[in-house]
Amino acid sequence: MEGPNIDRRRAEFPTLASGIHLLSHSLGPVPRAARESLLAYYEAWEQHTSEDAWAASWWELSQQVGDRIARLLGAAPGSVQIQPNASIALASVASCFDFASTKRNKVVTSALDFPSMEYIWEAQRSLGAKVEIVGSPDGITVPLENILAAIDDTTSLVAMSHTSFRSSYRVDAKAIVGRAHSLGALVLLDVYQSAGSIDLDASIWGVDFLIGGTIKWLCGGPACGYLYVRPDLQRDLQPRLTGWVAHDAPFDFAHSPMRYARSVRRFAQGTPSIPALYSALPGLQILEEVGVETIAGESRRRTEWMIKFALERGWKINSPRDVNERGGSVMIDVDDGPAMVDRLAQRKVFVDCRPGVGLRISPHFFNTDEEVEEAMTILSQLIGEGFAE
Ligand SMILES: Cc1ncc(COP(=O)(O)O)c(C=O)c1O
Repeated sequence: MEGPNIDRRRAEFPTLASGIHLLSHSLGPVPRAARESLLAYYEAWEQHTSEDAWAASWWELSQQVGDRIARLLGAAPGSVQIQPNASIALASVASCFDFASTKRNKVVTSALDFPSMEYIWEAQRSLGAKVEIVGSPDGITVPLENILAAIDDTTSLVAMSHTSFRSSYRVDAKAIVGRAHSLGALVLLDVYQSAGSIDLDASIWGVDFLIGGTIKWLCGGPACGYLYVRPDLQRDLQPRLTGWVAHDAPFDFAHSPMRYARSVRRFAQGTPSIPALYSALPGLQILEEVGVETIAGESRRRTEWMIKFALERGWKINSPRDVNERGGSVMIDVDDGPAMVDRLAQRKVFVDCRPGVGLRISPHFFNTDEEVEEAMTILSQLIGEGFAE
């Protein structure tokens, strides 16, 4: 495998010394600088009586982290509100709709979405939502024509994974937004498995909402989700899932009625998870320095190589073959996924598996080509050996 000579910043990720980390779809490795960042959090807390931690840094942090994430999404500053996690980000959007009082009560989702998507929309049925889940006949893709056909003039929202956690299938965002907007519907894409791995163009697509979080491809810690809302849509919406931080003047501690912030902060709820914000900053910084375009190019090159390697050996790939329909992971069918994950871990190759798709393997910018080759060679040996010990 031949590729460009990029700075993979390996020394900045101590975990990489313990083996071949191919788990960026699950939990990215901790950046060394997260230790200092979390220490800065502790120190601000410790010194709070002499210097107000909220005023000095904490209050601004949500917006700072939100703006950094916005850059990775191809979005404008002031368009991303930090959330406790992606599920809450989705619930916040769901709470903007009043399905019971409109004929436009349909929500279109897909069969390859993360389960939170199904659970949250299922819960909206009792509030009048009509949910249509577009199926995946092969368990790997969701035919675009079926998604487009499901969108009609009763659709209020199309809400689905941009890249599926299950198969790494990537939908055609532009086509979906085009069709939805032409019929008066909005579009939410879950980019948890895309952001930081492939190029995203929120502003160019004209997408209405994006949701995700930092612990996977963005190398951040848990409890730092995010919600992008198209800037010219923000003020039209009043999430019922709300709290004092979403108020236009939160420190007035005013009685209701709620007066929503005139910024993306109107999609906040209560006190932000400050340690999560500190833990997210170093990874975001590294990603920005390496550059999403470079990272995306490396992802394309290595996933193509892995698929070729697998097909030459007659393995079944449970991800799309077309690079334009795929995210940064490759799913490989094996007889017994959990057992293979264990055997690979014994050889210091770290991947995971999901029912129905087999191994999930995710090279990221910090992996060397040699690591990717070695991991696939070890997998090939283990498959060759079968399960007899
Ligand atoms: C595509 C996708 N969406 C959502 C989630 C869940 O996000 P959260 O735990 O922040 O709600 C995951 C987590 O694995 C995911 O892969």
